[in-house]
Amino acid sequence: MPADSMIDILISENIAGAPVDALRSKFKVAFEPDLWKNRKALTEAISGARAIIVRNNTDVDAALLRAATNLIAVGRAGVGLDNIDMKAATELGIVVAFTPDQNSISAAELALAFMMALARNIPAASADTCAGNWNRNRFMGGTELYGKTLGIIGAGKIGFLTASRARAFGMNILAYDPFLSEDHVFLRQLCADQVELDELLSRSDFVSCHVPASPATDGMLDAARLRRMKKTAFLVNTSRGRLIVEEDLIEALKTGVIAGAALDVRRTEPPQPGELEKLPNVILTPHIGAFTVEAQERVTRTVCADIERLLAGQPALNPATPFRLPQRKA
Ligand code: MLT
Repeated sequence: MPADSMIDILISENIAGAPVDALRSKFKVAFEPDLWKNRKALTEAISGARAIIVRNNTDVDAALLRAATNLIAVGRAGVGLDNIDMKAATELGIVVAFTPDQNSISAAELALAFMMALARNIPAASADTCAGNWNRNRFMGGTELYGKTLGIIGAGKIGFLTASRARAFGMNILAYDPFLSEDHVFLRQLCADQVELDELLSRSDFVSCHVPASPATDGMLDAARLRRMKKTAFLVNTSRGRLIVEEDLIEALKTGVIAGAALDVRRTEPPQPGELEKLPNVILTPHIGAFTVEAQERVTRTVCADIERLLAGQPALNPATPFRLPQRKA
C-alpha cells in the first residue's frame, strides 16, 4: 500500500458485519480478506497501519510486527493465539486483544455433533440415502452415547461446555488437564474423574480434544497414544490439528486401532488432500467450529469494540497481552 494511503485498521481475513461497518465510519479501514495468503503484500499493507484484525490464518510473527512500525494493536477474532507471536507483541508493547468465550458454545456444539454423527454413521447413511438407496441393514449397529465414557483432553471452557452437554446425554466424564486442580469447579460440576492421559485414552469410548497448540501439545496423540484407545472408540478434534500426528491417525483408522475420527482442524490449513479424505470412518470439516451466526456476531462485535477503544487511547477489555494499553516501543 503506498504511503499516501495510510490506513488505521487492516483486516487481513474475512471478518465482516455491522461492527466492521461501524469502524469504517470512524477510521480508515482496509478490508483485504485474502491478504493473509500473500506475505509480501501483507507486510507492505501493514507497514503504516495502527491496528490489524485477523482470524487464525494470518501469521502475525515477530518479523511482521517489527515491520509494522505504527502498529499498536492486534485484534484476534477468535480465541487461539498460536498464529500470533505473543512474546514479540509483548516486547514491542503492542496490545493483542482477543475474544475469549465468544465462540466456545459453537465449538462445544460441533464436538457434540461430531460425536453423534460418528456414533450413528450419519454422513455415510445420508450420502447413501441421497444416492437413492434405502439400506437400513447397512446402517444397523450404531451406538448410543448414553452410558458411554467421554474423555476430555483439556478441561478449559470449551472442554467444560462439551462435557456438560455430554452429561445431559448420560455420559460419564474423564478429564485430563494438568492445569486444573482436582477440586476445580469444572471437574466438580461434571462429576469428572481427573486422570492421566494414558488412562483417559484406554478407558474412553469417545475422546474429545480441547487444548491450544503449543510445543507441549504438538503431536501428543501419536501412534503409541492412539494404540492405547479402545478399538471401538471415536476421536474428535475441534481444537488444533497439530495435536495429532496425522500419518499415525490414518494408520490407526485403516488398521482398526480405533473405530473412527472427526476432525475440524488440521496440521496444515488448508491441507493437501491425501489418504485421510478417502477413509470411510472419518468425518472432516474445514475449521468451522466457531462459524455460527451467533458466535461470529459476538466475536466480531467484541474484537471491533476493543480495536476502537485502543485506537481511541482507552484500555482493551479483552487483552491477551499482559497490559491493556499499548506501550509501543520502536
Ligand atoms: C478460534 O481459535 O477462535 C477458533 O479456532 C476459530 C478461529 O480461529 O477462527
